[in-house]
Amino acid sequence: MLRTHTCGELSKKDLGKEATLAGWVATRRDHGNLIFIDIRDREGLTQIVFNPEDDKALHKKAEGLRDEFVIQVKGKVRKRPEGTINKKMLTGEVEIAVSGLNILNTSQTPMFEIADDAELSEDVRYQYRYLDLRRPAMQKNLVLRHKVCKIMRDYLDKKGFIEVETPILTKSTPEGARDYLVPSRVNQGKFFALPQSPQLFKQLLMVSGLDKYFQIAKCFRDEDLRADRQPEFTQLDIEMSFVEEKDIFTIIEGLLKIIFKEALDYELKIPFDILSHGDAMNRFGCDKPDRRYAMEMVDLSQDLASCGFNVFKQAIASSGIVKGLNLKKPKEMPRSRIDALTDYVKSQGSGGLAYFKVEDKDLSGPVAKFFNEAEKKLIKEKFEARPGDYILILAGAKGLTNEVLTRLRSKLAAEEGLIKKDIYDFLWVSDFPLFKYNDEEKRWESEHHPFTSFSDEDVKYFDSDLGKIKARSYDLVFNGAEIASGSIRIHRKDMQDKIFKTIGIDKEEAKMRFGFLTDALSFGAPPHGGIAIGLDRLVAMLCGCESIREVIAFPKTQKAICPLTKAPSGISDKQLDELGLDIKD
Ligand code: AMO
Ligand code: AMP
Repeated sequence: MLRTHTCGELSKKDLGKEATLAGWVATRRDHGNLIFIDIRDREGLTQIVFNPEDDKALHKKAEGLRDEFVIQVKGKVRKRPEGTINKKMLTGEVEIAVSGLNILNTSQTPMFEIADDAELSEDVRYQYRYLDLRRPAMQKNLVLRHKVCKIMRDYLDKKGFIEVETPILTKSTPEGARDYLVPSRVNQGKFFALPQSPQLFKQLLMVSGLDKYFQIAKCFRDEDLRADRQPEFTQLDIEMSFVEEKDIFTIIEGLLKIIFKEALDYELKIPFDILSHGDAMNRFGCDKPDRRYAMEMVDLSQDLASCGFNVFKQAIASSGIVKGLNLKKPKEMPRSRIDALTDYVKSQGSGGLAYFKVEDKDLSGPVAKFFNEAEKKLIKEKFEARPGDYILILAGAKGLTNEVLTRLRSKLAAEEGLIKKDIYDFLWVSDFPLFKYNDEEKRWESEHHPFTSFSDEDVKYFDSDLGKIKARSYDLVFNGAEIASGSIRIHRKDMQDKIFKTIGIDKEEAKMRFGFLTDALSFGAPPHGGIAIGLDRLVAMLCGCESIREVIAFPKTQKAICPLTKAPSGISDKQLDELGLDIKD
């Protein structure tokens, strides 16, 4: 080994020892004749000192050291002089009086300072990601990611799961995004698809009798990127045979409890609450409620159908909704803030914002005059309004109104500082609709993926009202973001065929795309179900990062490119020829 200790290791108990360290020159300070250097590796920093009175030649050599040079030093561990002790550093009470220096490599001056607080553009960070990853905060993230994966493997192994790798070069495994395609050289004109998830293979493994499967699996989806989405990301993918919803919940709750304990020393309360999709939509306007703050929504559509305010009356008459929230005693609500909130909801597509100020005995505000006493009383009651509160109401089409009200709720919570800190709120959302209607294409499609089972009681709606069929699916929501998603699957061929038919996949297409799955279901497929956790999202949340890119070693940018390798890139004419491909102008 080129070192006896890491740079984060030496302490008072090592005083007087000879130590050899290897690492990068992090900072250098010259004090009179003395040269102080912090040498850095993954474990931390250690102060080393060159004194010309000890060794002139060595001191001269140290004068040539620059940031990020890679060095090996040896010397005696000694106590730092009083006044220079740094209690914040693990190694802050000791230093090495250097007696030997070996320059292992020089370095160009880095494009940015290797420090956690450096302000950097993403382009520069990703182009020099290897330097960006030298920053201690980034290393901490990757170490935590490793820890989480290790806990996952150990926990699932103990519970009898086995890890199985499924193919990357495969056939389309649809999860609602576009596929990444790979042309075949051997079979020209044919393409592999990279898996959007291991969904179909994990189901086949249940047919095989593997019983309990997991995989830390790479998934590929060609979709618009956001802070919480990458084209290539990782799932903890799980599937189990002979289970019901609660069995999956229990496994995941147990796993997260351990992860939070070991990663954050936080006692997670389990089991998590379960909210039906319908209740989530009613109370929070969305299927991933953020419950770190209250401000639940109230629907007035049943109550105000014949009120005197035309905007509301018309919205209800055209099958829309009138829904709002109570901002309890806001810090301040001058006219300018009302105007800004109105502009905001309009920019999000809403027609406008109606509001009431709650007075001691009455409701005031520009639209209050349109409501009679009974209506105002009812509004006050439903919103549990107290003097000083502001009731904000939107009217319009159901989907849009829920969406805008959800954003308004979150904006107000942020503005008012209502989001409780250090809260980890997990919540199961279950009973999603099985199908949703695609207005543009005028057809029904699966809400989750088409392999999701449904509630037996709802079979009757297949012929009457597809929108009423409840799926046996569930999402795990964490502080208002979807962190995992899964379902109990269809395990009978006739049922699977019925779903394909309902979403407009005819027999021939079903056979071509999913024949291998439906065939397998006809060979004694057991009842089964599973879930996948977005690993990147989970780790980002544990690290307190806004973006999953902070916990991925080599992420893609918003434009789905890699500035480091410049991928994707063109290929040679010879390669195109071999693949039988032509690039259109
Ligand atoms: P789903 O598509 O909901 O379900 O994905 C499961 C979880 O994966 C994460 N995730 C992503 N993370 C980063 N970038 C992305 N582009 C991205 N897309 C999804 C989310 C999500 O909750 N096969 C099913 C699971 C199952 O039914 O068992 C599936 O893939 O955290
Ligand atoms: P208008 O008819 O545009 O003058 O609006 C009368 C009042 O109704 C104003 O206070 C608007 O902000 C409010 N308003 C208009 N459209 C909506 C809507 N879709 N939802 C809630 N309030 C609205």
